[in-house]
Amino acid sequence: MSSSADARIRRRDAPEPTPARPALLLDWYDRHRRVLPWRPPAGERADPYRVWLSEIMLQQTGVKTVGPYFLKFVTRWPDVAALGRASLDDVLRMWAGLGYYSRARNLHACAVAVLHDHGGVFPDTEEGLRTLPGIGPYTAAAISAIAFDIRTMPVDGNIERVTSRLFAVEEALPQAKPLIQQLASTLLGPSRAGDSAQALMDLGSSICTPKKPACALCPLNDDCLAHRRGDQETFPRKAPKKSGTLRRGAAFIITRGDELLVRARAEKGLLGGMTEVPGSDWLAGQDDQAALQQAPALRGIAKWHRKAGVVTHVFTHFPLELVIYTAKVAPRTRAPAGMRWVPIETLAGEALPNVMRKAIAHGLDI
Ligand code: ADE
Repeated sequence: MSSSADARIRRRDAPEPTPARPALLLDWYDRHRRVLPWRPPAGERADPYRVWLSEIMLQQTGVKTVGPYFLKFVTRWPDVAALGRASLDDVLRMWAGLGYYSRARNLHACAVAVLHDHGGVFPDTEEGLRTLPGIGPYTAAAISAIAFDIRTMPVDGNIERVTSRLFAVEEALPQAKPLIQQLASTLLGPSRAGDSAQALMDLGSSICTPKKPACALCPLNDDCLAHRRGDQETFPRKAPKKSGTLRRGAAFIITRGDELLVRARAEKGLLGGMTEVPGSDWLAGQDDQAALQQAPALRGIAKWHRKAGVVTHVFTHFPLELVIYTAKVAPRTRAPAGMRWVPIETLAGEALPNVMRKAIAHGLDI
């Protein structure tokens, strides 16, 4: 690739870290925050009791289902002392239908502990909250941030997805959790930790959705790495499922200046008619050398460069592992029959399946 193409890719796809992200996120939240029964009006302090109650209910249940239960609970038991004096039977009856009843038992035990051991006041540190029944690391972080404005980031599924896309986290879940936690924490500004967390939750549920995210509406789209690459739906990465036999192959990333060599897949079969970079067969047990033998013949390729690592993808019937070989060719090199050169700049508009977007991103370091 020419040095100008190299520079352009870096400029477009590896932006300077933006200290403005937390502010952009909070601006968006101030305009688009969801009205939810446990959220106080903008600018008002959240009640730790309501935050705790909602977080316990939301642990395994969606926002829509939780709403009416939350309202029933706070109407009957307006504070933690009232809930701590209630009978477990009454609490279980009120919980009926929400499922995961150990949550209701822990809820009651926690209210009793706050009432008797903490004078009816919730501890205001993550460590203190962790000592209470039913409060694990995530819930302690959520209550700390939302109720006490402690600078900590609770990472739920929505925040995991937003963060893994923003930073194009290649490591698969669950191994990637500590890294995602660290990256998500960079989205906290100097204050309003709870609003930052809830902004990410709202963004994940309304815009940065698992399928067909509405990137055009996202306040962070300008420097979302996955959005720039066009493979946002492939994040967060998940470890390949164990179903099907692993197939292995090679993908060849051949550049001519700022163009990439591609071809169309066969009309019939897997990913029929879609665009791909040239590649080997995908076979169980195939080694790298056997895959490399299937590289297209182009004038002037003296040496292939094998990129470190592999690209993984899981199809319905098998997991795939691709090694990536790269090569650069001279300016006027002709494309072999059935192949064509496309400007790297226009790749987003090509019918590239996700596995190819991943392979290209890996091969071009974008
Ligand atoms: N899911 C878990 N906690 C939440 C919150 N505070 N707001 C919206 N969704 C949530």
